[in-house]
Amino acid sequence: MTPQVGAAATTIAPIDPLSIAGVRSLTLAGSPHSAPVATALTYLDGAEGIDNALDASVLTQIDEYLGERGPFAAELPPGGLTSTSNDLPPHGLTIATDVILAAQSWFGLRIRAAVDGNPVAQWTLYTDAATDEVYTPADLIDGSDVDAITEAAGATVGTLPTLAFAADGSIVLAAGGDTETGTASIERDRARGLLNETGRRIQDAADSGEPFHAPTTAAFPHVPCSLIACVALTYDDGPSPTTTPALLDVLADEGVPATFFVVGSHVAAHPEIVARANAEGHAVENHSWSHPDLATLPAPDVARELAATDDAIRAAGVPTPTFIRAPFGSAGGAVPTTADHPLAYWSVDSFDWRDRDGGTFVPRILGKIQPGGVILMHDIYASSVSAQKRLIEALRDRGYTFVTVPQLFSGHALGAGQQYTCRGTGVSDAGPACDGR
Ligand code: NI
Repeated sequence: MTPQVGAAATTIAPIDPLSIAGVRSLTLAGSPHSAPVATALTYLDGAEGIDNALDASVLTQIDEYLGERGPFAAELPPGGLTSTSNDLPPHGLTIATDVILAAQSWFGLRIRAAVDGNPVAQWTLYTDAATDEVYTPADLIDGSDVDAITEAAGATVGTLPTLAFAADGSIVLAAGGDTETGTASIERDRARGLLNETGRRIQDAADSGEPFHAPTTAAFPHVPCSLIACVALTYDDGPSPTTTPALLDVLADEGVPATFFVVGSHVAAHPEIVARANAEGHAVENHSWSHPDLATLPAPDVARELAATDDAIRAAGVPTPTFIRAPFGSAGGAVPTTADHPLAYWSVDSFDWRDRDGGTFVPRILGKIQPGGVILMHDIYASSVSAQKRLIEALRDRGYTFVTVPQLFSGHALGAGQQYTCRGTGVSDAGPACDGR
């Protein structure tokens, strides 16, 4: 079947992101490989699926633009991207996002890329905020209709155009970067025959006139760690009533989120401390019940150590952990087949427990840290706590953004029982390459 192409192309007016609950816009700019890149990205907190799909598609576009200059890495400034409140410059690669749908549980983005002001690509992403599933246009049309709909938009067969939904239920297609050239519209009823069940659900939402139901399950706000230099501060072996509250005070003063790998028996003794950490935006994760070398224990004992700690954390009113850190980083034996969450190792060992002196371990950390890195420290030593302000300021001066471990690894498929060192893709002889991607 050949779709009827509307005589006058309809354009989709973007929705003001500030009018939608849970939506944030973030402007990032920098000059990777001395090539100017600026992005204005719109995130929906609690919808990590579409947030990460947006980041991945932006990363692809940046890599394409940089070409032989090399792959983009979330390097520190001046090579990486940093937050900016400035308008996007007209030169280099610019990427902008428009919210094109926010109704019922459906949320849609149109992303537009231009080089030196000339449109080079545009694409659309949709999510059902109730399930966090992400859909591209190809996921909304049954296979045999894809070519017909692509031709209707004037695009090369085999590539899918931007697909947007107007408020009257018609669909609007755009083949290339230019929102005018190659734009076609297909009226509601004909479009309905081309869309699959998911596409029809989005069409129904678009012309429903109903408000958007934002996701309510945002554990942490999305941070685009593949695009900017992120670092995770992690503190093991607490909570301690003598040192952890002071650390929480420092983190609150600095506005920095961190991750606490807590010992279950300590949680049971001081649940109020982990409750405070959770309330203040930190991640509370599992460091076993009694801090044994888990690799030496039979599987049932490993399972008991981990389950009892999850139970204690939940009993403190804190969400169930999504990460484990094995005591001593010892994750062999029965751990890989028994652990029910991924394991977080570290890329920088501070040796704060040995030195007990920030003057020694802070420079060590600064000498080793890379984007996507995880720093191992302990919140049970006063000398560790008293060094944090200095460490945080030094990392911030270098251009780092602080995130929790779940935020750091967001968008990466992690396996239960597998151990991860940092956010990164490559592995070198010297260990995992923490390139932040
Ligand atoms: Ni430990």
